[in-house]
Amino acid sequence: MADKTSFVDTIVHQDVKDYYGKKLQKTSDLKSNACVAPAQPYPNFILNALKKVHPDVTDRYYGCGLVVPECLEGCRILDLGCGSGRDCFMLSQLVGEAGHVTGIDMTETQLEVARKHMDFHMKEFGYKKPNITFVQGYIEALTEAGLESNSFDVIISNCVVNLSPEKKRVLTEAHSVLKDGGEFYFSDIYSNARLPEEIKKHKILWGECIGGALWYKDLLQLAEEVGFSPPRLVTASIVTVDNKELQAILGNFKFVSATYRLFKIPKGSPKPCNVIYNGNITGAEDSLRFDCQYTFKADQVVEVDGELAAILTHSRFAQDFTFQPPSRSCGPCGVKPKALAEDPFQFAVQLPKQSPSSSTGGCCSTKSATCCK
Ligand SMILES: C[S@@+](CC[C@H](N)C(=O)[O-])C[C@H]1O[C@@H](n2cnc3c(N)ncnc32)[C@H](O)[C@@H]1O
Repeated sequence: MADKTSFVDTIVHQDVKDYYGKKLQKTSDLKSNACVAPAQPYPNFILNALKKVHPDVTDRYYGCGLVVPECLEGCRILDLGCGSGRDCFMLSQLVGEAGHVTGIDMTETQLEVARKHMDFHMKEFGYKKPNITFVQGYIEALTEAGLESNSFDVIISNCVVNLSPEKKRVLTEAHSVLKDGGEFYFSDIYSNARLPEEIKKHKILWGECIGGALWYKDLLQLAEEVGFSPPRLVTASIVTVDNKELQAILGNFKFVSATYRLFKIPKGSPKPCNVIYNGNITGAEDSLRFDCQYTFKADQVVEVDGELAAILTHSRFAQDFTFQPPSRSCGPCGVKPKALAEDPFQFAVQLPKQSPSSSTGGCCSTKSATCCK
């Protein structure tokens, strides 16, 4: 099938299409655990949704994390680099029949697998009409591929942005097709320093999602340039390359698979505030783990930093929180320091010692008690 956009295909794109369209036939053909690096255990409602995905689709899954943000019912979602569609078929169940999922990918052979299994999944989910559309196109040219500006509530992506030679363009396009208040929630591979040309030009390393990994500090910079809120780290896990030849080329560079959330919200000078989560989000009735710093227990007061206060106020989460002015002085139980939240390597190393689900952010107390006086 001819490409539907006039976006110029680069040599890198051709190599990646070959890698995912011809070289790899199944998940076990991968040479590193960059793709498929598990970042955290899957909750039950997601495991149940995944169980309904056809094995021919999951056999060609090459993601590196879990890309299921909360509060998705009725949402319009876009999956950048959907591959054979595993995440699209899972999310189709979470948005429900009234929601919609669009998957875009440049590799036709992967999309063929996804399209071939559309009817199977719609019957399996009991839907009268499909709530998924698969589009062939480039993630650097979303509007050219026919996707409308300001039309998606959430964009997800699972181990794809690293494969693009034009990452700023990907973020810019994502920002443009998101609605105001929308979220880009994505899992990808990051390096501990900027990678040299020798690594970037290595076709297998690039194809394995390592050669094109961004230095995580460059993601923070790019997000700001494009107009997103500062990235919030959700989770991270160390990636290992168990191949001596590739290890020799990589030397001391280290890699993590990390999930970040970026929001399209108005710029301003956000102020910290106290918030109370109402416990109404499906799958997060007792507590909502928002990122690696903040877990909101239902009905408890939590002081959040200004950035997060702005995100909660302007995004789809606004209806699930009550907002209050901050306490006068928050002393030791106040807003958490940012350093750990920004460095996925530090977080990934800490992960085995302290499970993310056991941490709570800000200062907590019951709804009726006063916080940090
Ligand atoms: C590592 S696989 C991940 C696929 C899928 N997200 C999954 O979890 O199985 C990368 C996918 O991204 C697609 N891809 C890479 N670069 C792309 C680009 N610039 N535009 C569109 N698709 C791209 C590839 O064709 C491939 O299907």
